[in-house]
Parts: sequence; structure tokens; C-alpha cells
Amino acid sequence: MKHRKKAISLIVMGTSAVALVVGCSANTTQSTGQGNASSGTASVKVNSTGSSHVVNYKNASGTIVWAESFTTGNLANELVKAFEKKYPKIKVKLQVQPSDTDTNRATLTTAISGGSSTPDVYMGDVIWPAQFANSQLAAPLSDYLPKSFWNRFSNGLVSGATYNGKVYAAPLFADTAFLYYRKDLLAKYHLPVPKTWEQVKSEAAQIQKAGGARYGFVWQGADYEGLTCDFDEYLADAGGQVLKNGKADLTSPAANKALSFMRSLITSGVTPKTVDTFQESQSENVFTQGNAVFLRNWSYAWSDSQTPSTSKVVGKVGVTALPTFAGHGSSGYSTVGGWDLYVNPHTKDLPAALQFLDWMTGTQAQSILAENSEMPTNKTVADSKSLAKYSPVFALLPKVKFVSRPSQTPEYPSVSKAIYDNVNEALAGSISVSKALSLANQQIDNAQSSGGL
Ligand code: GLC
Repeated sequence: MKHRKKAISLIVMGTSAVALVVGCSANTTQSTGQGNASSGTASVKVNSTGSSHVVNYKNASGTIVWAESFTTGNLANELVKAFEKKYPKIKVKLQVQPSDTDTNRATLTTAISGGSSTPDVYMGDVIWPAQFANSQLAAPLSDYLPKSFWNRFSNGLVSGATYNGKVYAAPLFADTAFLYYRKDLLAKYHLPVPKTWEQVKSEAAQIQKAGGARYGFVWQGADYEGLTCDFDEYLADAGGQVLKNGKADLTSPAANKALSFMRSLITSGVTPKTVDTFQESQSENVFTQGNAVFLRNWSYAWSDSQTPSTSKVVGKVGVTALPTFAGHGSSGYSTVGGWDLYVNPHTKDLPAALQFLDWMTGTQAQSILAENSEMPTNKTVADSKSLAKYSPVFALLPKVKFVSRPSQTPEYPSVSKAIYDNVNEALAGSISVSKALSLANQQIDNAQSSGGL
């Protein structure tokens, strides 16, 4: 599947808004924050159709808890400090979440489904809206924010956060994957920046053999969502897809080519065997400690690789679009990644939560994100000429092809699990490539027909 290039789908607040609010009144009547004492003059207004609950949060006050899962330095604190300076009547307490998206999701699901009113606002993956909306773990933001609110976002992002006609999350930043390389090593061994996966493998092997680096290429091979992202990229590069006409399509020659290549990176010694336990941070760590030639990672890894306190390769790193297989074009696919802001449907302070969302998706916060190599979702910042000065990754975006995960269904967690469990076993060599793919295929179809986990 290609990147969502559709225009922003503006959400028309209609009668269904009422149905949802009423339908989960046990959860949401108190959650709308209407008349909340701590919310100052915040009030709720019903539009001319009498069907929406647009919240006026302009004078909101109170304390909210924000669950954040940034992997980059002190970013959450920096954002909160700037927000509190602008809105001194609102205090934001941080709740640090696990950076692994699956563990993060599990802790939030437990808290919110148990009725907890905190966190009020949480960072959540771009693949969560369908599942979270379906399980009433996220407030329907389009019921509470005016239509004009959604105009600030770059094309396609709002539709990715929409489920059954309502928007459940405000896009915070987009993640794109790149190939990071040691430019000093490529220069030393007179090798070009690779454009194909085959070249990545052969150049890495050559540099390892000559003693230039311990490992050739590190990436995410652990049994978790990140592996689905990596696999989907090779799959798209090979011309394959996870679903075809809604059914699993992983017994294709393209899927075989993708997974066989991933496994061959390990058997050839270019990638360490332990990659089957690597998430983003472990792979990044091997690279920033100077132990690998190439790294597949998201946009923020640029900032991390240039931070002297954590990186031994400052000034020695280059970044380029992910490669593709030989004969498959001039650059490869990146999975569409990123994080949104969601509101807990049980929050006791909706106005303050919405004010925070408004500021976080506005130009000041979005520029702070850009400075940290997080791709802004606010189109004024994203399209500004000065964006490229923040990070070289932004200049590469026009070259990147995008592949989306099939996350528009509440069953997506099971679909992804079918991929990463089996791909991980094949990487470890416990099952063959073709066995892994046929099991994944079967489990995806089962998950879709039985309604998921
Ligand atoms: C990044 C992406 C997210 C993805 C995750 C996988 O955080 O932004 O979309 O699910 O990596 O590990």
C-alpha cells in the first residue's frame, strides 16, 4: 500500500457525535469536562445542528497528566516548560511510558479500560486509532474540536487518525525510516553510498573483512511492532504487500525474497545474530558506539547520532533514503510511522487537555520537534523553507516512498503479531522462511475473521 496521499478528510460533526457520547455515557459524561471547576470559564457549546459538543478551552486551567514516550533526550520537559510559560494556569505532569510501542499500549490499555482518569493526554502510535476507538480507549476529538482545528495538519495525517468518521487523535510527529551510514568508513574504503540492499550487504561485508567495523548493518529484529515495520519495507521493495483484496498475501515470491534477504544478512555475518532481540534503541546504540557501518532507524536517530554525550560517531554519519532491491527503482520504501496525541475518555479536565493538544500541534511546539529531527505534522512548520536547516533528514523526504501498515482495523495488533512472531522465528533460524510466511499468512486471515486478539 502506498502512503496516504489523500486530502485531509475533514470531519463533519453530525448526529453520530451524539450517539457516541450517549453510547458511552458512563465513561464520557464526566469526561467532557463541562463545567469543571478547575477549568475556569471553559464551556461547552452545541452547534446549530444541536449535535456536537465543541469545547471552548481558551481559559482552561488545572493540572493534567501527560503520558509521553519520546526516545529523544529531554524533549518532553522542554515542551512542557514552554507550554506552561504560555499557559501558566495549566500544569502538566509527566508520566514516562515505555518506548516499546506494544508495552506502552498494554499499560495504557490496562489503565484506561480500568476506568482511570489519568493520564489525561497520552502519546500513542499512529497505528492505534482504530483499535483505541473501537475499545473506547480514546476520546472522539472531532466531537470537541471545531472543524477548523484539523486544517493545520499536512495532507493525509488526519485521515490516518480517523475511525468510523471521527478523529480520535491529533497528529504529533511523523516518523520516516532512513539508512544511516558511516561516511568516514565509506570514504576510507572508497565505497559509494549504497542505493540497493545488495550493495548494503556487500559493502558492509567488505568493511568488516578489512577490520573497519565489528558489524555491518544493524536494524530491528526483535519480536515486536518494529519488526513488522522493517519487514514491510523489504516486502514493499520486493513488490509485495501484506494484504491483497483484504486477504493475507505473504506466500508470494516477493515476501519470500524479502524475508530470505533479512535472514541472509544474519547468516552472512553482516548483521549480528542478536538482532532478533534488537529494538530501535539497541540497534542505535551499536551504531552510535561506533560498532556498525549501517543502521536502519527513524528520523530522530539523526539527532541522537550527533549528540556528543551519547554518540561516539558525531561528525562521521551520513543519512540517505532507504535503499531498494536491485532493479526496483532508485530508492526504497519507508514505513509510515509516527505518534499522535490522544485524550483519555475518562479525563476530568477536557478543556485543559484540549488546550495542551492545541499548543502541541501549533507552530511553537512543532518547531521544537523539528529541531529534534521529529517531522512536524503542522503544515506551516512542515512546509516552511527553514525546515531543512533543522536536520538533513528533512531534505531527503521527497525521495522517500511510503508504505502504510494495514492498521485501519481494530484487529491490526493481531495482524502485526502474526507477522513479527513468525518473521522473528525465521530470523532466529527456528523455522524456515517459507514456513514462517505460511504461518503468518494463516494467522493474519484467522485474526481478521475471528475479530483479533
Ligand atoms: C516508531 C514509529 C511507530 C512504530 C514504532 C515501531 O516509534 O513512529 O509508528 O510503530 O516505531 O517500533
